[in-house]
Amino acid sequence: MSEFKDVLLKRRSIYALGKNSELSTDEIVARLREVQQTVPTANNSQTTRLVVLTGEANTKLWNLIYDVQKEVLNEAMWNFMSPIMVGAKEAMGTVLFFEDRDAVNQMPAKGERAEAYKQNNNANSQFAIWLALAEMDLGASLQHFNIGYEQGFDKAIREMFNLPASYELIAQMPFGSVEQAAGEKEHIDPTVQVQVISE
Ligand SMILES: Cc1cc2nc3c(=O)[nH]c(=O)nc-3n(C[C@H](O)[C@H](O)[C@H](O)COP(=O)(O)O)c2cc1C
Repeated sequence: MSEFKDVLLKRRSIYALGKNSELSTDEIVARLREVQQTVPTANNSQTTRLVVLTGEANTKLWNLIYDVQKEVLNEAMWNFMSPIMVGAKEAMGTVLFFEDRDAVNQMPAKGERAEAYKQNNNANSQFAIWLALAEMDLGASLQHFNIGYEQGFDKAIREMFNLPASYELIAQMPFGSVEQAAGEKEHIDPTVQVQVISE
């Protein structure tokens, strides 16, 4: 099996995360920087900003998210989601995925297309970074708590870490050692997913 396919298969949503890795934050960040440099963006606009939180910063983030979500989620969602927030505090850290709205405004595309490109740019990074973490034998999951720039839902996170006002939070990716592997997942028919037309 190719190394590429190995890494693709290793990347799963991992919620039971720990700190049992030989890798230092510096080593992880160096790899993520290398990978982020390769990510394609619309017109090479490079609008995505990643902020890696570790240690106390990671704990502060998840305490804040926990407090906010406790107020906004209904009971069923809270019961489902709160273990994810608690688990993320046990992780080695969290990658915050932002889009710099100042950079997005510089893109040639405007309006709805700029919005789509912004999300596409960010999604390309999310997948690349998730794979990079998997390649380092680190588990991760993708979360969307406290997002909503227009409503100011991400403002407290920006303020907590002194981030620019133009940084719009798109997603969070807690990462760490894999303390519990993911289960089986269902796949739809690959010939529906990938179709061929020859004439
Ligand atoms: C656009 C998008 C949004 C997602 N949002 C969440 C989320 O908010 N919380 C979560 O736990 N997983 C989230 N995921 C992860 C998916 O649920 C997960 O990738 C999918 O079920 C397949 O499982 P796997 O990651 O183990 O392969 C999201 C994935 C994508 C692509």
